[in-house]
Amino acid sequence: MPVILEAKDLVKRYPLGEGEVDALRGVSLAVEQGEFVAIMGASGSGKSTMLQLLGGLDLPTSGEVVIDGISISALDEEHRTLTRRDKTGFVFQFFNLIPLLSVAENVALPFLIAGDAASRHRERIDELLALVGLSDKAAHRPDQLSAGEQQRVALARALATKPAILLADEPTGNLDYTTGAEILDLLWDSAERLGQTIVLVTHDARAAAYADRVLVVRDGVVLDEIVLGRRADHEAKPLIRRLAELGL
Ligand SMILES: Nc1ncnc2c1ncn2[C@@H]1O[C@H](COP(=O)(O)OP(=O)(O)OP(=O)(O)O)[C@@H](O)[C@H]1O
Ligand SMILES: [Mg+2]
Repeated sequence: MPVILEAKDLVKRYPLGEGEVDALRGVSLAVEQGEFVAIMGASGSGKSTMLQLLGGLDLPTSGEVVIDGISISALDEEHRTLTRRDKTGFVFQFFNLIPLLSVAENVALPFLIAGDAASRHRERIDELLALVGLSDKAAHRPDQLSAGEQQRVALARALATKPAILLADEPTGNLDYTTGAEILDLLWDSAERLGQTIVLVTHDARAAAYADRVLVVRDGVVLDEIVLGRRADHEAKPLIRRLAELGL
């Protein structure tokens, strides 16, 4: 499959007090269309920084990110925002739903932001609610949902515009194991059935085991890559064994 997301020698240096922090120290990677890639690493290793750069939420100090053939570092702010809107969907640990909007309105948000009436996308919104199993809760407010349901709304919203890449930062970090597994099942299904390209950030090997390939990050560099292949059982043991061999 063609490469849909590419990072070339990404360096990210944050100012910190009088000094600086090197969050990323030369990260290169390529994700093929339809691939489900996990980024694993300890707290502070640079996972979220990587995801933000890969999705164009922030710019690298040096290096380049190419999303679906578009070099986002070369774009001005406005075109970067548009590219991000067209090409990426984001899911975060804290669902970031709009409390005053209904479930259906939250899912429709990407269309509203693009200046479209939600009514023009009713079919798509119904389809997304069915995908995440929330057709019967379309009129609910986020605070009337469980945490797992709220994350399913966030996932439906992230998938609304059929983004080239879905980026998820610890999407199960705020959920219990069973509820987290439901979200991971949905991610996996969207990769398997819809061909969705996914980059998942997690520190949890059980979550990373859903991916086709795991990039292990330490101190701002990609330390290693573990190829698991597409497997329906999501068995974490082979990954845990490989991580142990790497001393992780
Ligand atoms: N806005 C910022 N300003 C200064 N330093 C930052 C900023 N964001 C991140 N850092 C630093 O960069 C490094 C990498 O942070 P990052 O958030 O990418 O780690 P992470 O792997 O996502 O960690 P966690 O698992 O805890 O979410 C850390 O040392 C962090 O303190
Ligand atoms: Mg993080």
